[in-house]
Amino acid sequence: MKGVVLAGGAGSRLRPITFAMSKQLVPVANQPILFYGLYDLAEAGITDVAIIISPETGQEIRDAVGDGSRFGIKPEFILQDSPDGLAHALQLAMPFADGDSVLMYLGDNLVRQGVADVVGDFEEHQPNAQILLAEVPNPSAFGVAQLDAEGHVYQLLEKPDNPPTNLALVGVYLFDNTVQQALDAIEPSDRGELEITDAIQYMIDSGSRVRASMIGGWWKDTGKKEDLLHASELVLESLRTSLKGQVIDCRLRGEIQVGVGSKLVDCDVIGPVVIGSNVEIERSTIGPNTTIGDGCRITDAVVRKSILMKEVELTQWRLTDSLVGRRASIGGSAPPAFVELTLGERSEIIG
Ligand code: DAU
Repeated sequence: MKGVVLAGGAGSRLRPITFAMSKQLVPVANQPILFYGLYDLAEAGITDVAIIISPETGQEIRDAVGDGSRFGIKPEFILQDSPDGLAHALQLAMPFADGDSVLMYLGDNLVRQGVADVVGDFEEHQPNAQILLAEVPNPSAFGVAQLDAEGHVYQLLEKPDNPPTNLALVGVYLFDNTVQQALDAIEPSDRGELEITDAIQYMIDSGSRVRASMIGGWWKDTGKKEDLLHASELVLESLRTSLKGQVIDCRLRGEIQVGVGSKLVDCDVIGPVVIGSNVEIERSTIGPNTTIGDGCRITDAVVRKSILMKEVELTQWRLTDSLVGRRASIGGSAPPAFVELTLGERSEIIG
């Protein structure tokens, strides 16, 4: 089986962060979201992996993934000129699949239990396509499935206004090579994309065997800030303490990681918290559910339920539920209350 990871697209729901960086490289617990999927594929024994990239952020993805050896995969990068849909991206990867089955993994999804089980299930039952489903509170934000009494899927709808069920399609799909006929047959949807839901619906309607299983463990599509912060919270649940930097006169509670070369002085740290390397924090309260990227400088501030990317400078402000891009700077006279920010790379707030 081959892997196809989708790391193209526009990332419009995470702007302004995605004006300057790929949404799949936004860090969760200091590791790009994309990396979780690549490790999942390797763990499932899938080593040949096509990574779909866009002209805007493709180079950044290539640089981050490198030769793939840290994950145990062999990546091949495939350029998608414009974000014409998930089925379009898969179509581009079909020559790479070269007749093998494929596991398509959306590069902004996080799947707690990995994909080894679903690969095993696919190999055992040998359907033409296999999808994973999860119950969600907001199904109209996803592809939605309808199942019959025996649990067979008979209808898929992409982001319906009136969802018939709360069963969302997870961003992990497995196909044998008969998916090619479906990819050739479908037409762009009303939003102008070749939809993978339409391709799977075509397979259902033409008598292919499409297997659906419920996902075990949590799953998160990190396309929006709230989802990203929630995903971060879920990943941080399994954090284990590791203090590699200096922690001086601090009060620590819960699981906390502090990276090499970092220095915390006179701080309250309420885990789970991940602090990267070469970070300096003084007289501040950090956490819970917070990630501080490498090289950040924080003084007299409070940060909770937030992600600060690399080299952010923060003085005095109190942040909650915030996502702060690389090298942003927040300082000057701070508002009296907590502030919720989404701040793009190199932005400056001078209060
Ligand atoms: O996350 C699960 C959902 O993913 C499913 O429930 C939906 O049925 C499915 O359509 C998809 O919906 P999204 O609106 O979340 O897809 P998004 O546009 O965010 O794209 C998912 C990933 O694929 C993301 O990492 C960007 C990448 N992508 C997207 C498009 C449209 C590409 O590489 N190329 C593309 O053309």
